Amino acid sequence: MSVTGVLRPGHIVLRVLDLNEAVYHYTQVIGLFETGRDDQGRVFLKAWDENDHHSVILREADSAGMDYFGWKVDSEATLDDLAAKLEASPLARDTVWHAPGEQLATGRRFQFTIPTGHRIELYATKETLGCMTGYSNPDPWPDGLRGMAPSRFDHALLYGRDIDGTLELFRDILGFDLAERVVGPDGEFLIGAFLTCSNKAHDVAFIRSDQDNRLHHVSFILAGWHEVLHAADIISKRNVSLDIGPTRHGITRGETIYFFDPSGNRNEVFAGGYIWYPDRPTITWHDSEIGRAIFYHDRKLNEAFLSVTT
Ligand code: FE2
Repeated sequence: MSVTGVLRPGHIVLRVLDLNEAVYHYTQVIGLFETGRDDQGRVFLKAWDENDHHSVILREADSAGMDYFGWKVDSEATLDDLAAKLEASPLARDTVWHAPGEQLATGRRFQFTIPTGHRIELYATKETLGCMTGYSNPDPWPDGLRGMAPSRFDHALLYGRDIDGTLELFRDILGFDLAERVVGPDGEFLIGAFLTCSNKAHDVAFIRSDQDNRLHHVSFILAGWHEVLHAADIISKRNVSLDIGPTRHGITRGETIYFFDPSGNRNEVFAGGYIWYPDRPTITWHDSEIGRAIFYHDRKLNEAFLSVTT
């Protein structure tokens, strides 16, 4: 299999209440690196193993949450092709092209609203800064890492009402696969959809909610369980607001810990999971097993994990 079409999560734009506090959190606690600021005052960040200019953008605002989520596609031709399909579909609302450079270091972007109310965009071109180990006889990790030091931005989990429509858009138009799903007592009613465009267990996930356009968490990948434990140590050492973990998910098998940025946006760092190939059957979790599906060890959910979103 080669990854074509939509390649991967490219960037996420987070609203934060205090920019300086947020920059400290994302650079010193999580360990991303600042790569630029734009004339709106937005701060651009990347993880150490990412090639492109940025993967996280912070914008100071009156409320926390997500402005939009960008996906990198494999070419400008693919961008045109997918934009035409989205423009012709009732599932994509308020479509708009943004000119090259309107977002720092980024080419033209095609933005639209999906049935769960989230703003999504596609782009093919972004300036590259290179990963911090370089590409010639690289060391396994660079000097100068700090905090949890994830290698990249990995995925986000989003809450909204019409997850059936959003699943249809991601699967039928953008070419994603449904790696795992959570269903209600009838075995069909969709509660959660874990979608992949690559060979990861998930690149984005959606949970049914009574509110649209909500962010549950933004997630960064670590090398292994020991690094998840190290992240837990940092959370205590830095007095960061802990949500839950370290623990393991049944869904995706990931090893995980959740915490909050100073504005209340939930963050995750995680490791593990399995390799997805398109001929792998979709895993189904029944809502009677939802505790084990989300937190495999505790086998029960905490109310805050279900209800707190931004
Ligand atoms: Fe996650």
